[in-house]
Amino acid sequence: MTTKRKITYASNFEKDTAEGLSSFPKYLSSKYIYDKKGDKLFQDIMEMPSYYLTGAEFEILETHKEAISEAFTSPSGFDLIELGAGDGKKTKILLRHLVSRDDDFCYLPIDISHNVLEGLEKSVQEELPKVDIKPQQGSYFDVLESVADYNSRKKVIMVLGSNIGNLLHPQAIDFLTNIQEAMSQKDLLFMGFDQKKNPQTILDAYNDPEGITAAFNKNLLHRINDEMDANFDVDSFKHWEVYNPESGTAKSYLVSTKEQSVSINSLGLTIHFTPWESIHTEISQKYDDTIVEWLSGESGLQIIDQFTDKNSYYKNYVFTKR
Ligand code: AVJ
Repeated sequence: MTTKRKITYASNFEKDTAEGLSSFPKYLSSKYIYDKKGDKLFQDIMEMPSYYLTGAEFEILETHKEAISEAFTSPSGFDLIELGAGDGKKTKILLRHLVSRDDDFCYLPIDISHNVLEGLEKSVQEELPKVDIKPQQGSYFDVLESVADYNSRKKVIMVLGSNIGNLLHPQAIDFLTNIQEAMSQKDLLFMGFDQKKNPQTILDAYNDPEGITAAFNKNLLHRINDEMDANFDVDSFKHWEVYNPESGTAKSYLVSTKEQSVSINSLGLTIHFTPWESIHTEISQKYDDTIVEWLSGESGLQIIDQFTDKNSYYKNYVFTKR
């Protein structure tokens, strides 16, 4: 089935693609969706009313900005460190409020994308010139290490957007433990977790009729075509979403609608698909208080406060080191 598979790879994307498509059942990692086109499609997803996560977190920040600021504030000021800052639309609600309170703080957005950080820095400087912004480029893990050295005053580490939802529980515990280890006793973690709810609402968020989510998911195949000299017939794959209300896991698949073979020339691989064979591409985990309490306990953290929207669709939790 597989031919002269390469043993050295030009990137992790190549290595993970070779591994995932040679496995049974087949899988790919959602982290590779996000190139320039994938970033744009995710922006479009966040604008869709059916993708309730954005609006719910917006509402939480808007409604509870004073209580959240009270949790963040400290007599000697604080450093607000945001992991995966993106376009900062939601963060600016808090930044604006902190400025209006005359809070003494510095904003350190961290993102893997240079592009994103430059745009964010520019827009914050224009809209909120009083904010002392120090962008940090890098992966969460690189930057968390240097963040641990920020110990002169209180740190508030912030992760919005339920980004943790892309991780299986063991990986989520690793991620939270890494953050916990970068924290000292006085520091806070402020993090968004999408909640379990009517399964139909969740399915609708990942299955829009306009096909934006399908295009987002299929961007993986376009990237493999473009970057690994492959010939996926992208239209012959169907986006499919399932949600398991027991585990709280939403899963995305790309399903081959016919028998076909795909050549991935840079990897020296030919991948065969039987009719209706699937590629698992993404998980979007949903949570409740019990799961978040368990994850935080396993990671050496504890929940000290939480904020939700009027529908209880989404929650932002405040954690300290145990
Ligand atoms: C960025 C991981 C929070 O899983 O809800 C949106 C990504 N995937 N629609 C999510 C996503 C499909 C999103 N996160």
